[in-house]
Amino acid sequence: MPATLAFDVYGTLIDPSDVVRQLRQWLGPKAEDFYRHWRDKQLEYSFRRGLMGAYVDFSQCTREALAYTCAAEQAPLDAQAQQQLLDAWAHLPAFADSAAALTLLRAQGARLYAFSNGSRSAVRALLAQAGLLDVFHEVISVEDVRSFKPAPAVYQHLLSCTQSPPAETWLISSNPFDVLGAAHAGLRCAWIKRSANSVLDPWGIEPDLQTASLLELAERLAR
Ligand code: 2OP
Repeated sequence: MPATLAFDVYGTLIDPSDVVRQLRQWLGPKAEDFYRHWRDKQLEYSFRRGLMGAYVDFSQCTREALAYTCAAEQAPLDAQAQQQLLDAWAHLPAFADSAAALTLLRAQGARLYAFSNGSRSAVRALLAQAGLLDVFHEVISVEDVRSFKPAPAVYQHLLSCTQSPPAETWLISSNPFDVLGAAHAGLRCAWIKRSANSVLDPWGIEPDLQTASLLELAERLAR
């Protein structure tokens, strides 16, 4: 059982696609595609801001990406609807297996960390309302280094916060760019392939573990 496990938050522990339920009231069957566009743009903004050295709180990437997507898709979402969606983003649910997997890993003696692009306060509040906060040793945010995943500096920051050597520190994420970023920084990594059509970028980097769910990961690490 690895001692130090760092979990990505959005998409790994917490399900951002839950906002599709809200989006349907304005967009009907186009809600899913709109969500995908919004999420991709949010991440693109974080990548670009990391490269530019122009850090902002991740919530600003989320808000600006929503405004962009509304304009690009000519979606009928006024300011009030956009605010409703941003509020929903702060109240996203955990995936069904998150609590059970974390509890199992914690019981095996692993030190658990949440490690996110989100600010510490936003991630703490998000995990608390989803019922997951208490299981974590600490919430680690990229805000301390004012950059975003997958900049090597943010994984170095994780290592320095956990005081754990890279070969004994696991990054667990459903986001391929996060998995490859962690591997590039020398960490062990597990890819949670939460959806059947999710693809790991063909860069010749393989995760140490690949599973279809967090619970499967927990059971395999617990063996
Ligand atoms: C997170 O850092 C990448 O959104 C993902 O939580």
